[in-house]
Amino acid sequence: MDSDRLTLSPEEMRSLGYRVVDLLVDHFAGKEDAPIGRSPGREELEGLLREELPEEGQDPQEVLDQVEADILPNTMRVDHPRFFGFVPGPNNFVSVLADTLAAGFNVFSGTWISGAAAAQTELVVVDWLRELCGLPETAGGLFTSGGSMASVTGLAAARHAVLDDEVEGAVAYCSDQTHTSVDRALRLLGFGPDQLRRLPHDEAYRLDPEVLAEAVRTDRAAGRRPFCVIANAGTTNTGAVDPLLRLADVADEHDLWLHVDGAYGAAAVICERGRERLSGVDRADSLTLDPHKWLFQPFEIGGVLVRDQQHLRRAFQIQAEYLEDAIGEFDEVNYSDYGIQLTRSFRALKLWMTLKVFGRRAVATAVARGFDRADQAEALLRSWDGWEVVTPSQMGILTYRYAPDALSADQADALTRRLPKALRDEGTAMVTKTTLEGRPALRLCPINPRTSADDVRQTLTVLDRLAESLADDQRGAAP
Ligand SMILES: Cc1ncc(COP(=O)(O)O)c(C=O)c1O
Repeated sequence: MDSDRLTLSPEEMRSLGYRVVDLLVDHFAGKEDAPIGRSPGREELEGLLREELPEEGQDPQEVLDQVEADILPNTMRVDHPRFFGFVPGPNNFVSVLADTLAAGFNVFSGTWISGAAAAQTELVVVDWLRELCGLPETAGGLFTSGGSMASVTGLAAARHAVLDDEVEGAVAYCSDQTHTSVDRALRLLGFGPDQLRRLPHDEAYRLDPEVLAEAVRTDRAAGRRPFCVIANAGTTNTGAVDPLLRLADVADEHDLWLHVDGAYGAAAVICERGRERLSGVDRADSLTLDPHKWLFQPFEIGGVLVRDQQHLRRAFQIQAEYLEDAIGEFDEVNYSDYGIQLTRSFRALKLWMTLKVFGRRAVATAVARGFDRADQAEALLRSWDGWEVVTPSQMGILTYRYAPDALSADQADALTRRLPKALRDEGTAMVTKTTLEGRPALRLCPINPRTSADDVRQTLTVLDRLAESLADDQRGAAP
């Protein structure tokens, strides 16, 4: 080790590196039997990890020992086949190696002059996504840290294209099921909270085009400036897909920019079932699509596509004297001209390698399996007494609650609320809850392609057992 050059000897690098590879391989190969992870309290973690800034270095093998003992086991494994909460993160080993290479070579993806092949790779992968979504050749985009930044980027293009960046009196629309990243994006872009209308959802948790059109008319009549509608291609709550075709018609009629938040769901265009559900996504002016959700990539890779990519450049390009050498002479693409980041990691590599190693067909099958597992869970719950399906399986998401005849709605709701923690403590699996029409509902998001039918059955069986035993306790406790 040559500490003040921050280098290890080749032997040390190899032995440390091989140990990391072994850890990863064990992780990927042994997932089914591995614990789902832990979420300890602050006090425990302070005890494990709080220390003074180390003045002197330590044997890297010992540091890795600590990572193995104290850090990795004390996180939830969002890639575990029975992690069904939030949006799982079922990454793949090829992508992990790609990220290692991108970090190891520290490839700079902000300018062509520093990372030409990285930019070209991103152009190619973005174009694959564009084709899958049916957007025209004028469309382009880039990879971001995640869906939140992708929507900021797409909505910045909208603000520039439609409003010439003049936000006063402007109004955007979405359903009340829309992810809060959209509220945050608009807030960052200078819009006040009252400039986003969160319209009530219809009976299937979608944005009703009639309700949208009426709201636009009302705002126009009041002298305000409707400029954008944000439609969902798979809500986080229920997987609902807004009626994209009809919303696109309303957007056309009223000169609104159509931003589609497909952070979670848009990747499903890769399979037939997803393509059918997402009909109309090709009408988007901008689209958020996150490979770190349903395209099996490690965090962080979100993505935004814009129908006319020049809108991105117009919104973001600023010349600087210290970047003179980076200005292209021909048709080089400087991705820093198309988004917020100048320094950007080589995110495209992991998706490129995944699609090349496994091919579209395998990835499509992997996505389709998520639809099937959610269907399976729905069928199982419908066949059991005591369970109610709140929203059917759609886009790989199912919501449900425990509602046996013997309990009042309030009692059942109180019990449903306790189930995610009870399951977490039991250790088999992880599900999370949400609120629909003021009542709690459990969510199941089984999009991990390594989730088996047995994983789903086992998880629901344990939930059923826990629910019955909590109900027994409740009855026992009743006066
Ligand atoms: C529909 C939807 N939009 C946006 C986001 C935000 O994406 P990110 O967490 O990658 O910033 C999420 C995250 O779950 C989501 O489900």
